[in-house]
Amino acid sequence: MKLIIGITGATGIAHAVRLLEELRLHEDIETHVVMSAWAITTLKEEMGLLAEDVARLADRTYSNANLAAALSSGSFQTDGMIVLPCSMKTLASIAHGFCDNLIARSADVCIKEGRPLVLCPRETPLNAIHLENMLKLSRIGVRIVPPMPAYYTHPSSIEDLIAHHVMKILDLFGIKSQNAARWNGTAET
Ligand SMILES: Cc1cc2nc3c(=O)[nH]c(=O)nc-3n(C[C@H](O)[C@H](O)[C@H](O)COP(=O)(O)O)c2cc1C
Repeated sequence: MKLIIGITGATGIAHAVRLLEELRLHEDIETHVVMSAWAITTLKEEMGLLAEDVARLADRTYSNANLAAALSSGSFQTDGMIVLPCSMKTLASIAHGFCDNLIARSADVCIKEGRPLVLCPRETPLNAIHLENMLKLSRIGVRIVPPMPAYYTHPSSIEDLIAHHVMKILDLFGIKSQNAARWNGTAET
């Protein structure tokens, strides 16, 4: 399986790091990672990490400015793309087909080729522009998976919340995830 991971400058970069750590455990999954300039800033701010640290978790990395990269073409076959976290700016670019960087172009390619595209938008509060962009994309089959915490698993750490979100993303690709708690129903009916 060949997956594109786009990482943009919304808060919550730790979710992307966790996703890559999990995917690295699957020998049959190849990750193609693109980080925006603002993702590199939030990575440093929120985790004290550098782009090279993320690159070590990926099979291949690309510059977001390189629109001649393989991912830019539908003829380069992939099994889909995850944008995590997805800023409102990148969400808007994708919703409007504005392919001015490799993340937006790769997402556009996934839509035109009918390949799975999962966006994890992060903003609060959401305005009507954000919501309309999400609805527009959802209507054409793009999955909108924001980092919304689930409390029914009784998380005891931020890592637990992140693991649950990553599990929900991986479930959409049929990929097994590590150690995330699931709801298994109550004892009583
Ligand atoms: C620390 C930090 C946190 C940010 N958090 C968000 C956020 O949660 N959602 C969002 O849409 N933009 C957020 N932004 C603003 C985006 O980085 C900005 O809109 C940028 O243009 C996004 O570009 P990109 O999508 O190419 O990464 C944040 C910026 C910084 C520096």
